[in-house]
Amino acid sequence: MRATAFVCLLAQGLLASACLTEEELRGFRHNLPILHRRQRAQTNKTNDGTIPRGLGDRFKNGTVAPRGIGSQTGANFTSFYSMDQIQSATLGLVNEFNLTYFELPLKTFENRTMYGLKMPGKAGPTVLLQAGIHARERGGPDHLINFVADLLWAQREGTGLVYGGMSYTAQDVLTALSHGLVVLPLVNPDGVAFDHATNGCWRKNRNPASARPNDTDATTGVDLNRNFASVWDFRKEMAPISDDILSVSDDPESEVFHGTAPLSEPEARNIDWVMDQMPDLRWMADLHSHATQILYAWGHDTNQVRDPSMNLLNRSYDGKRGAVPDDLAKGYVYAEYIEQQRLDRITILSSRVADGMLGAAGRSYTAQISVGLYPTTGVVTDHVMYRSLVDSSKKTADAITIEFGQYNRDALCSFYPTVPMHNFNMMDVGAGLMEFLLEAARLG
Ligand SMILES: *[C@@H]1O[C@H](CO)[C@@H](O)[C@H](O)[C@H]1NC(C)=O
Ligand SMILES: *[C@@H]1O[C@H](CO)[C@@H](O)[C@H](O)[C@H]1NC(C)=O
Ligand SMILES: *[C@@H]1O[C@H](CO)[C@@H](O)[C@H](O)[C@H]1NC(C)=O
Ligand SMILES: *[C@@H]1O[C@H](CO)[C@@H](O)[C@H](O)[C@H]1NC(C)=O
Ligand SMILES: *[C@@H]1O[C@H](CO)[C@@H](O)[C@H](O)[C@H]1NC(C)=O
Ligand SMILES: *[C@@H]1O[C@H](CO)[C@@H](O)[C@H](O)[C@H]1NC(C)=O
Ligand SMILES: *[C@@H]1O[C@H](CO)[C@@H](O)[C@H](O)[C@H]1NC(C)=O
Ligand SMILES: [Zn+2]
Repeated sequence: MRATAFVCLLAQGLLASACLTEEELRGFRHNLPILHRRQRAQTNKTNDGTIPRGLGDRFKNGTVAPRGIGSQTGANFTSFYSMDQIQSATLGLVNEFNLTYFELPLKTFENRTMYGLKMPGKAGPTVLLQAGIHARERGGPDHLINFVADLLWAQREGTGLVYGGMSYTAQDVLTALSHGLVVLPLVNPDGVAFDHATNGCWRKNRNPASARPNDTDATTGVDLNRNFASVWDFRKEMAPISDDILSVSDDPESEVFHGTAPLSEPEARNIDWVMDQMPDLRWMADLHSHATQILYAWGHDTNQVRDPSMNLLNRSYDGKRGAVPDDLAKGYVYAEYIEQQRLDRITILSSRVADGMLGAAGRSYTAQISVGLYPTTGVVTDHVMYRSLVDSSKKTADAITIEFGQYNRDALCSFYPTVPMHNFNMMDVGAGLMEFLLEAARLG
């Protein structure tokens, strides 16, 4: 536990960039409202060397199926998928491979319908794959859809897959597909639509319920990846550690605004609903950019394996969580309980995913505990684990956050990749998700 905390602090200094820009990290560490000023500017500039948005409908309303970078040689993706293309690509897979398409029950604030696809396996579905929760993290939906497409094409043709330096056999493809998968390619459609329309580096959803009337542009939106139920009420459950350190906020102006209640947002409730539809849910991976990291539980504090009663449901630890390292003087002494065997599985799984992503295009990925980046609450991957803690009728499930790709320092929005970066990211994600599914199959 001590050792883990120490490593995390080291990592924090070097790598604290996942999902937030350097200026945002400085911003929330020093309460400087920086990014929203740029978002408000909305220059719509597109000629900053980043990959352009795809035009037209390359999947012809679902009559053409996509194919990724792992099941064909020499592919070069020179645009990213538009909103329409994400949907038509999904429909293309459904039609070509006879998958199940489903819609989620709640509409978003802007009345969009969320959707997913379901693939049969030997059991389950036991695996949930998700992308697009942070709108500006461009490429997530593309990489997820194209990875699934690769698996299906390879299965049909009886071949393996190649992601840069990583090769997989036809048998690996069958093993990866054996789980039964549910895929949610775009879980923040309003945010992504807005980001595409404005190139404004938009992260959150578009719910204006908490916006201040005199400043709606800067105060619209909830960070969906702070809106889930696990330790949502950070003011009560976490130690009163400085807002400079916490990556969550109750200020609607913040990029990490957590909403008005656990699962207050329809997008978050929809995702929770999907999990409810998966009684055999065992593994989940959520795609983000751009830290070249694999993050595993927990987000709110370090892990410990000795004291099962020290856990996030025990109210006697409210106000003590989140200090890394513990602050003995103030009594902030806490680490989240996790069974040793489970911790071993999730760390080995995360390392394997990181190694696969390194092997794809040669960019270094590291696996680490989520709190090592910054203490955070209400994230979807912790929610996956939390669900079986509050309801023992649910099977335990484990989840990782995959932070693909690197900063694009030359872009107005560092989350927008160049064409070469987008293609490398697609290889990385392909290899990472392959390793994830293969290791999950090995672990059972
Ligand atoms: C940017 O594009 C959006 C959506 O098309 C539009 O509403 C807005 O006025 C544009 N902003 C500028 C500065 O051109
Ligand atoms: C796209 O396909 C759907 C059925 O999948 C159909 O209802 C819709 O009219 C089509 N749209 C266009 C523009 O062809
Ligand atoms: C991919 O296409 C872009 C834009 O057309 C081009 O600049 C780049 O060299 C191509 N990359 C490869 C590996 O072919
Ligand atoms: C498509 O899948 C359904 C079950 O989901 C099955 O009943 C049907 O026969 C399949 N159709 C084809 C053409 O394989
Ligand atoms: C969503 O649909 C409802 C009911 O049709 C309508 O009242 C509301 O104005 C719509 N909201 C937006 C943002 O378009
Ligand atoms: C909007 O009003 C709030 C108080 O309700 C104030 O704190 C804030 O500075 C105002 N913002 C602007 C941009 O005027
Ligand atoms: C909660 O933690 C306290 C120690 O702070 C312990 O005495 C108590 O038994 C725990 N409660 C449960 C239900 O485990
Ligand atoms: Zn993110």
